[in-house]
Amino acid sequence: LTTLAANAATPAIENAVKTRQASYKLMAKNFKAINDELKSGSPQVGVVQPAAREIARIAPLQVKLFPAGSGPESGLKMEAKAEIWTDNATFVKLNQDLVQKANALNAVAAAGDMAGLGGAVKDLGGVCKQCHDRFKAE
Ligand code: HEC
Repeated sequence: LTTLAANAATPAIENAVKTRQASYKLMAKNFKAINDELKSGSPQVGVVQPAAREIARIAPLQVKLFPAGSGPESGLKMEAKAEIWTDNATFVKLNQDLVQKANALNAVAAAGDMAGLGGAVKDLGGVCKQCHDRFKAE
């Protein structure tokens, strides 16, 4: 008699975990591109704009990729902490902040406001850190 693990991850769960991780990576890659432009001292609008657009596109999708059962109990490899589901209101709020700051950065970039870029990047980076400190394992 075979017993399936009580928490065996379904394909939908596996897909959500893989997708959210890949999307965070993509968001981070684009955020790094903008940070590199800032460090250069003369940020190129042509690099900053598409990267900011991509971050703003991804940001609102992330919160949907944490369905029930897609936490550490699934046995899948992840850095997502169980607190995401036990303190979901805080997690949802931080996702709203993410969307807001990503949209603000995108607006600054779209306007070609390279002087305002640093502030918008700092605001967004602060939200990344706040959420990681609370909900992401090292
Ligand atoms: C609302 C919470 C939250 C916010 C905001 C957030 N993250 Fe994350 N991030 C997570 C969680 C949770 C994980 C772990 C996901 C997993 O392993 O399933 C993660 C994982 C990552 C990873 C690792 C992906 C991998 O598996 O290789 C990177 C890179 C990352 N985030 C970058 C960022 C950046 C950059 C920002 C801001 C622009 C950001 N995150 C904002 C919660 C957040």
